[in-house]
Amino acid sequence: MTTWAGRVEGALDREVWEFLRADDAELLPYDCEATAEHAGRLAAAGLLTAEELDEVEARLAEIAQDPSGYLDSDEDVHSAIERLLGDVGRKIHAGRSRNDQVAAAFRLYVLDACAEAREAIDALALVVLSFAESEAETVMPGYTHMQRAQPITLGHLLLAWVEMLDRDRTRFAAAAEAAAESPLGAGALAGSTLELPPPPRQMRNSIDAVADRDFALDYLYGAAVLFTHLSRIGEEIVIWATSEFGFVRLPESAATGSSMMPQKLNPDVAELARGKAGTAIGRLTGLLATVKGLPLAYDRDLQEDKAPVFATRRDTRLALEALTMLVSGLEVDRARLAKAASDPLLFATDAAEALVKQGVPFRDAHEEVAASVREGTFKRPRKGSLRPAPGPDGIRAALDEARHRFVDNL
Ligand code: ARG
Repeated sequence: MTTWAGRVEGALDREVWEFLRADDAELLPYDCEATAEHAGRLAAAGLLTAEELDEVEARLAEIAQDPSGYLDSDEDVHSAIERLLGDVGRKIHAGRSRNDQVAAAFRLYVLDACAEAREAIDALALVVLSFAESEAETVMPGYTHMQRAQPITLGHLLLAWVEMLDRDRTRFAAAAEAAAESPLGAGALAGSTLELPPPPRQMRNSIDAVADRDFALDYLYGAAVLFTHLSRIGEEIVIWATSEFGFVRLPESAATGSSMMPQKLNPDVAELARGKAGTAIGRLTGLLATVKGLPLAYDRDLQEDKAPVFATRRDTRLALEALTMLVSGLEVDRARLAKAASDPLLFATDAAEALVKQGVPFRDAHEEVAASVREGTFKRPRKGSLRPAPGPDGIRAALDEARHRFVDNL
């Protein structure tokens, strides 16, 4: 039985029903929460008795706990909840539409997904920070264009990962802020005559309230950028773990073997994080494409908003947790890094800068050093200074500052 059965005589064709049904079971607890909020306002307006409100709240708490009540014969989670509420369910839809209801429930879902992402990002960032602390003095070649460029420390590089993750937290905070407004009271698009008390942070425009999915796009964008970061981090780990580089050894608890080649230990976690980035970007562009042509206010196309967000939430949590395990188990081959960093050519810029300090114009200094490199006569300057400092006060200060930022913000 649908919520709109009074409008039509027969049932829908099975094929049509199956096509239209929402795959939205994950929304169940959030819709219960939004429905309880709505019930409270119905009671405040005298449209539900105190006993009815108690009953609704108690039933909703049970329904939220037990997803098995949601049946294939329900059109969507909203219809299921109304049916499961029994008699009092026949009163609950006064002053609302599934259009403001689904937006309200989905916003609560996205709020939770943002909080979950931020927690998992923090956990990874703290592991990277500890790694940076133990490798603060580990010298290695820094790369541009994947060619050896200048000496750095591994700690300096790892702190760059921390910065990427810190910006990711900011993006999820912004998505949560966008999701925190309430569309309730908008009804189908033009409110209702029932004059219910407004929810906190009610959206200004009822048409926008039911049409807007920016909060979901913001979430998917935050996740797409996070995944591009995880992908770049993953790519570095893949390169470092090759026999050619040999900078790190993978922990056996976070690497995989080969079904055929007995010697292999593969960086699948890092690779799949890289692979999932493509999927995360696809989900963002998919929803952008869904929304772009829609006339205001609600259109059924918007039912497509949920699957990409559900899947992204799962991937985000799993990828961050697995990478946290991988990074915490990486074993650095410091001797190998030191050997790579002893390449005298890493100090060619220092040599040019030493000439600049003696008054030589930089371009002349660059040409002079380049000529010695070409001729194979380049010598590392005796006072070849390391530049391992990620900030003016050196790596220790940068580590302290980053730890402070993360621990305080937790
Ligand atoms: N299942 C729908 C969705 O996810 C709920 C809203 C349906 N509204 C409607 N007027 N048919 O968007």
